[in-house]
Amino acid sequence: MLAPRSEVAPSAATTIRLEGVQKTYRRNGVPVAALRGLDLEVGSGEFVAIMGRSGSGKSTLLHILGLIDAEYEGRYELDGQLVSGQVADALAPLRNRMIGFVFQTFHLLPQLSILDNAALPALYARDRDALRCRADARRRLEEMGLGDRLEHRPNQLSIGQRQRAAIARALVNDPRLLLADEPTGALDSRTAQEILGLLAELHARGATIVMVTHDPEVAAAAGRVVLIRDGQAHDRRA
Ligand SMILES: Nc1ncnc2c1ncn2[C@@H]1O[C@H](COP(=O)(O)OP(=O)(O)OP(=O)(O)O)[C@@H](O)[C@H]1O
Ligand SMILES: [Mg+2]
Repeated sequence: MLAPRSEVAPSAATTIRLEGVQKTYRRNGVPVAALRGLDLEVGSGEFVAIMGRSGSGKSTLLHILGLIDAEYEGRYELDGQLVSGQVADALAPLRNRMIGFVFQTFHLLPQLSILDNAALPALYARDRDALRCRADARRRLEEMGLGDRLEHRPNQLSIGQRQRAAIARALVNDPRLLLADEPTGALDSRTAQEILGLLAELHARGATIVMVTHDPEVAAAAGRVVLIRDGQAHDRRA
């Protein structure tokens, strides 16, 4: 269904290296510790499931990995490049080029059709004409079973359809690193299996995947499970 990826082959190289990452939110001046000295290494081409109780810091971790949140203590190397200590704006080109992100709450722009939503990362990341970007977005949405909903705005779709549109958007640039925050949380088990099939395909073509899930069956699709507990990461082989 998808073209083979030639430029990236699975290798033993490390894509992600976090050392001593601490994230403390402040609410009304009161500190809320979310991550407390978290270490994590993810090799290039790995498929990792992140599990842990609600509020344990999984989304916080994913936002840091995705260069969306740059305000934390500790060290983060992405693809051999030190990215901690830089402002999020400076990291936007790297993020657009390398990373696809599925947000837990989707973050689709309400005033745009899902076709335009899904085309946005392509328009940002590449020096390409809008027609090609929209063609890629259309193909991804069709893969997600949304071919007959392209011109709908997010609020004209079911929650599961929004989730699938958000996944299509994350895949539109064929990312080398896919970060997905409960990508199947709103889906029935059959649709969830289809989405996992697409992730497995992306993985087989060399992409690195880090996926948050509460569902042990979904986690079983990954080669490795990392448990977040007390603000730290604990490896648990799948
Ligand atoms: N903007 C914020 N301000 C203050 N505290 C926050 C903020 N965002 C998250 N937190 C707190 O940080 C902790 C980690 O939140 P996070 O969203 O990472 O959890 P999670 O593991 O993704 O949970 P869930 O499984 O429910 O999605 C929680 O205790 C949460 O209340
Ligand atoms: Mg979360």
